[in-house]
Amino acid sequence: MKKHIVLLPGDGIGPEVTKAAKQVLEAIAGRYQHTFTFESHEIGGAAIDQQGTPLPEDTIEACKKADAIFLGAVGGPKWDQLPGHMRPEKGLLGIRKQLGLFANLRPVQAFQQLLHASPLKPEVVAGSDLLIVRELTGGLYFGEPRERRDNGQSVVDTLAYQRMEIERIVEKAFESARVRRKHLTSVDKANVLESSRMWREIVEEKKVDYPDVEVEHMLVDAAAMKLVTNPSSFDVLVTENMFGDILSDEASVLTGSLGMLPSASVREDGVGLYEPVHGSAPDIAGENKANPLASILSVAMMLKHSFGMHEEAETVEAAVQQVLQSRYHTQDLKISNGVLVSGSVLASKVVDQ
Ligand code: NAI
Ligand code: MG
Repeated sequence: MKKHIVLLPGDGIGPEVTKAAKQVLEAIAGRYQHTFTFESHEIGGAAIDQQGTPLPEDTIEACKKADAIFLGAVGGPKWDQLPGHMRPEKGLLGIRKQLGLFANLRPVQAFQQLLHASPLKPEVVAGSDLLIVRELTGGLYFGEPRERRDNGQSVVDTLAYQRMEIERIVEKAFESARVRRKHLTSVDKANVLESSRMWREIVEEKKVDYPDVEVEHMLVDAAAMKLVTNPSSFDVLVTENMFGDILSDEASVLTGSLGMLPSASVREDGVGLYEPVHGSAPDIAGENKANPLASILSVAMMLKHSFGMHEEAETVEAAVQQVLQSRYHTQDLKISNGVLVSGSVLASKVVDQ
């Protein structure tokens, strides 16, 4: 297969982990006789420095023509004082919006070798393997009006959804559950919010089309508790934008390091943007200490979700498992009797598998 991939390295450790992602894609192309072509563009702080805007026109145009996009990370103290519309993260929000990437997929897996890296008890974390499907382009983040009123004495934000926006994210979640353990937890606050009542109705309507998937509804407060008391009871969770933001950060503690968490933002036709969950880590940038595994696992998601290359994705995931099994790790991971290596060496260990 021929695929064209746009790389957006961005800032801080972004370029280091993007290099690792590209190496893995090249190794997969070689092994399975695919042709992957690459094109790099600026985004975030790097784009502000070079072109005076966090999301240059050539970056948008290239992303629109790509089969998939890989993003490293954006932001850093250098750009913190800039006004809101000029901030590096505007580049990321802008590209998601421009491409209509409405579904954010965040898998969280507790790797056997890292059970002790989590602040939770190993016996609680063991066996956890869940996927959070978060709605990404609606809800409180975009609803209007959003403003201060009455000379600053009152304020309003709006939680608004179109039926179609809920239907498509719910479908995406059912489809994800279907190829996993066939269990879907829909998370809402239906005892309080009208938007949640409609959300629940739509899940009930849609479940008729997916008789093989078992569905449960859970209030967001209960879900937040269960994520840290019994995380292995979840398979796929689907929820609106704000709840998803909070729950996915909460769930990230299960893995023990931000450096292990991949993510994808996709739309119906499979085009997607893949990125590690972590930021630009300015404290370790340029020191070859960044853990590349979140990025490498994001590549596995790209192979699966954008290219339909399931075997190739499993090869990448197995290589990550194998490297952890051999106890190689970067400094962010606690592995007993581990072999501490640099980020680039860890990436090459994965490529060599
Ligand atoms: P961060 O994720 O960059 O770093 C938090 C801590 O985790 C740091 O101690 C860092 O060294 C460590 N860390 C993160 N990724 C790592 C990796 N791959 N390997 C080893 N250690 C790793 O979050 P922080 O410090 O809150 O934000 C730094 C900058 O990144 C800010 O400008 C922020 O706005 C931006 N950011 C960007 C995101 C993105 O591009 N999607 C997401 C989150 C933050
Ligand atoms: Mg967040």
